[in-house]
Amino acid sequence: MRDLVAATHLRVDDLVAPLFVREGITEPVPISSLPGVVQHTRASLRTEVAALAELGVKSVILFGIPAEKDAVGSGAYDPDGIVQLALADLRTDVGDDVVVIADLCVDEYTDHGHCGIVDDSGGVDNDATVDLYCRAALAQAAAGAQVVAPSGMMDGQVAAIRSALDQQGYDDVAIMAYAAKFASALYGPFRDAVDVEIADGGDRRGYQQDHRNVREAQLEIDLDISEGADIVMVKPALAYLDVIAEASARIDVPLAAYHVSGEYAMIHAAADRGWIDGDAVALEHLTAIKRAGAGIILTYFTRWFAESIASGRLSP
Ligand code: PBG
Repeated sequence: MRDLVAATHLRVDDLVAPLFVREGITEPVPISSLPGVVQHTRASLRTEVAALAELGVKSVILFGIPAEKDAVGSGAYDPDGIVQLALADLRTDVGDDVVVIADLCVDEYTDHGHCGIVDDSGGVDNDATVDLYCRAALAQAAAGAQVVAPSGMMDGQVAAIRSALDQQGYDDVAIMAYAAKFASALYGPFRDAVDVEIADGGDRRGYQQDHRNVREAQLEIDLDISEGADIVMVKPALAYLDVIAEASARIDVPLAAYHVSGEYAMIHAAADRGWIDGDAVALEHLTAIKRAGAGIILTYFTRWFAESIASGRLSP
């Protein structure tokens, strides 16, 4: 009876697995603050994506960790950069069976850890950075990304990337915009995952959003849609369910939410101490994100969820 009247059903189809690929390693490297998540080699990434596809996972998002970082993050647009090589591997392996999304930012590639070009005053130069993103988008599209996902929160980035892609004939490459992305303390474990430390104790409050403001989030979402975003995203997820709910009531493009590294790590940490039932909390949290209105959820729990469904352990 409860299943009959349940109004929200989480499905493997809703989930996107974030994956990390690192240049210059010969074995996968575990990420201690993200239990069960690793920095992949090109080869282990291929094995992981094949396994996810076998489990019915429909989409992955890729992050790269280059061997060398520099001031402009050139690894992000180098045709031989680690993510470009990995994108090409995956398209060869899985074709259109799995939607391969490329996170589009430069913080993993810059030596100062900012999501853009730092100017003389120590701030991030918005327009110079947008040009960099366009170059990275073209490199990712050329390598086979079906979706690019700009996550740097520069103004005008979606319009510029759309036009750069269209001019080069990549009009069928979609844009999933990190539209309402907050300057959150919940990204800590991710920065371990991509070896990012922001220079001089800096932060991203100059370009990411203030967690005290909700109307601004809706404005950012509207701007990205008007600039051509095919999918818009709210990030993090649980602390921003109000943003998700309001956006989902208002907009007509698919809405995604990123259940970020800190949200994942907190569940593992408490479960390890025996303080909560980790599986039950993970299911409750992911279902809440869907219930609030996000039809697409990026989560490090994707493989766990798909395996739990396949083995019959879970029936959400
Ligand atoms: C920026 C980016 C970040 C995340 C995804 N893309 C980190 C940041 O903005 O500092 C965080 C994801 C997570 O915490 O799981 N390229």
